Amino acid sequence: MSASTSPLPRGTLSRPTGLDQPLDVSGMVDPDGGLIDRRIFADQQVYQQEMRRIFARSWLFIAHEDQLQKPGDFFQTYMGEDPVIATMNKKREYRVLLNNCRHRGARVCRADYGKTKNFTCTYHGWAYDLDGNLSNVPAQDSYPDTFNPADWGLVTAPRVESYKGLIFANWDADAEPLADALGDMKWYIDAFMDRDPEGTCVVGGVTKWVLEGNWKLAAEQFATDWYHVNMSHASALMVMSPTGKGPKKEIAQRSGKQYTDDHGNGAGFPVHPRNRFDAQPVHEYYDYDFLRERLSPEQVTGPLTNGHATVFPNFSYLPVNGSIRVWHPKGPNRMEVWSWTVLDKSMPEDVRRAQRLYNLRTFGPSGIFEQDDGENWSECQANAHAFMVGNTALNYQMGIGTEQENPGYPGTTSELYSDAAGRGLYRRWRELMSTPAWHEA
Ligand code: FES
Ligand SMILES: [Fe+2]
Repeated sequence: MSASTSPLPRGTLSRPTGLDQPLDVSGMVDPDGGLIDRRIFADQQVYQQEMRRIFARSWLFIAHEDQLQKPGDFFQTYMGEDPVIATMNKKREYRVLLNNCRHRGARVCRADYGKTKNFTCTYHGWAYDLDGNLSNVPAQDSYPDTFNPADWGLVTAPRVESYKGLIFANWDADAEPLADALGDMKWYIDAFMDRDPEGTCVVGGVTKWVLEGNWKLAAEQFATDWYHVNMSHASALMVMSPTGKGPKKEIAQRSGKQYTDDHGNGAGFPVHPRNRFDAQPVHEYYDYDFLRERLSPEQVTGPLTNGHATVFPNFSYLPVNGSIRVWHPKGPNRMEVWSWTVLDKSMPEDVRRAQRLYNLRTFGPSGIFEQDDGENWSECQANAHAFMVGNTALNYQMGIGTEQENPGYPGTTSELYSDAAGRGLYRRWRELMSTPAWHEA
């Protein structure tokens, strides 16, 4: 269709090179020394480079498989700031289409989710099938002979893969397989997503809310931060306590592990033989011997219940709450949080209800823990742009030197109270931000 050498569908168009000039941000994070430059949370140019070099080539969470069960089912979401439609085509394959008409650029789908045979743009009527092919153009005979609808389909993510019900997509055709990008993190994910031989489902739709705060503040916290729990959530823990007296000492001073890897993924969890689900009907439902057998004893005493995790860059989850979420970037100062409730498919109705209500009570926009977290992120963001604040380094030094291999725990682990996974996340961030992406050929 064009003489352009760009792998992006730009036809014969070209741009002055200065427009997307990359910044050398390698000095803004020091993962070995545990220092971060505040400007990475507030700078528009850094943010634009994140869109080009992180979000345009990382595996990004799209939807749970439960949301796309039949051909024509669709769900609208974002990859970075790009609107996309996830759908299942007639061959029952997942497709992720850029939700942007090739004519003038309106979204071709404006519903959050649903079922359809095609996506018809409501501006001039161009219509696209479930694979994104341009299938109808009103008054097509008014276009020149050189106009070929086959050249004007929706831009399609070349890679869509899923793991244990979680669908991810990648704009980079040559990206390593999702399973490789998850690496040892799969073992930790399994403790949440593979408890039930029947698999998982999502219930209650997607809860969405906007927060003032850079997307990395949330991703980083879910990767690495158990440290804040006793302080930030003190009042919430008191409310949740049966006696109303606040957390007992052994809860407040837990020991556990943190997982970090060179892909920027991270997870943290207390390790205790009596780790359990907090919602009583859920706790009573589970056969922990069966889970030890199906998974491993280490998964049951560790990441199966309490804990936190982030799959780089912006997908996070909480096993005990059954919460999965995406931190959609909306400019350097804002994120939109989308959260789902995940349940094991075999759970009977009363257990489902208990787990769903427990998740709503603790996380989500009205959750007593979630509100504490959101306040913290907005607080950290509020002055990040200011001159003196922006020139003062942040400390990520907790647990430096504790990273090690640990029998029973795949990959590299550190202590529960540690910034190891945070340093790992920013190490990956620096690596991607410093390396040209596929579209910069
Ligand atoms: S913008 Fe979609 S048909 Fe014109
Ligand atoms: Fe928290």
